[in-house]
Amino acid sequence: MSFAGKLVVVTGAASGNGLAAARLLAQRGAALSLADINAEGLGKARALIESENSPKSHILTIALDVRDSAQIDSWIKRSKDKLGPLYGAADVAGVTEKQLSGDPLDAAEWDHRIGTNLTGVLHCGRAQARNASSEGASNVNVSSIVGLIAVAGVGLAYTVSKHGVVGLTRRIAQHLAPKNIRVNCVAPAVVATPLTEKAFKDHQIPMNLMQRLAKPEELASVIALLLSQEASFLTGSTYPVDGG
Ligand SMILES: NC(=O)c1ccc[n+]([C@@H]2O[C@H](COP(=O)([O-])OP(=O)(O)OC[C@H]3O[C@@H](n4cnc5c(N)ncnc54)[C@H](O)[C@@H]3O)[C@@H](O)[C@H]2O)c1
Repeated sequence: MSFAGKLVVVTGAASGNGLAAARLLAQRGAALSLADINAEGLGKARALIESENSPKSHILTIALDVRDSAQIDSWIKRSKDKLGPLYGAADVAGVTEKQLSGDPLDAAEWDHRIGTNLTGVLHCGRAQARNASSEGASNVNVSSIVGLIAVAGVGLAYTVSKHGVVGLTRRIAQHLAPKNIRVNCVAPAVVATPLTEKAFKDHQIPMNLMQRLAKPEELASVIALLLSQEASFLTGSTYPVDGG
């Protein structure tokens, strides 16, 4: 499926799953606007994607914090002004378990997780819907398998934030369907990103039918499918990407 010349925006594009999605979309011809809180990582991501694609991809990079709606509004407007109508959005940015305080009721941890993983997705979805192409658009949110079930040992705030993304996807899809904007969600089990590879080094690999961690490219290909016209009748749903 080609995205030739179409603008797709990606949050969390400096690392892991967001970077894998951006690389795949660039290979398929998308014009990209990439956002992340990590400015240095974004610069490296851009250089990598440009080195992989010839002729060079159209890429805009913006360092921002998804918790700040004003920054998101200005990013999306700037992206549209520079690269044309907004066709797709992959809202991947998130904070995972690495900074766990150990206290499930810790207020700062709650605010950080919910602000980034849930409210951040709302900020992006709202700005993206306001600037979507008149031909229609597709948004993909990233939840987690712990957005569908509660897993012992996974933090309260992370679990609730990812359950929230599933609910947000359902409700916002209902609101945006009349504008021909589809909104779906992916719920991956553990993906071998730099972060989780480190965290899982000393642990047993979680059970799934495939008996392995997912590769970021395997999540990216599902995200690309949902963004594309090949998924034109899919909206409001969450798709586990969990190896069975
Ligand atoms: N890796 C997994 O096993 C796994 C499993 C299920 C879901 N997920 C989800 O996938 C997404 C990406 O995770 P990952 O494993 O690639 O982690 P990662 O840490 O490699 O990537 C997350 C990116 O989000 C960025 N980010 C964090 N806070 C931000 C903020 N406030 N504003 C803008 N950018 C911010 C980080 O700088 C980073 O580049 C997250 O939503 C995560 O919850 C990951």
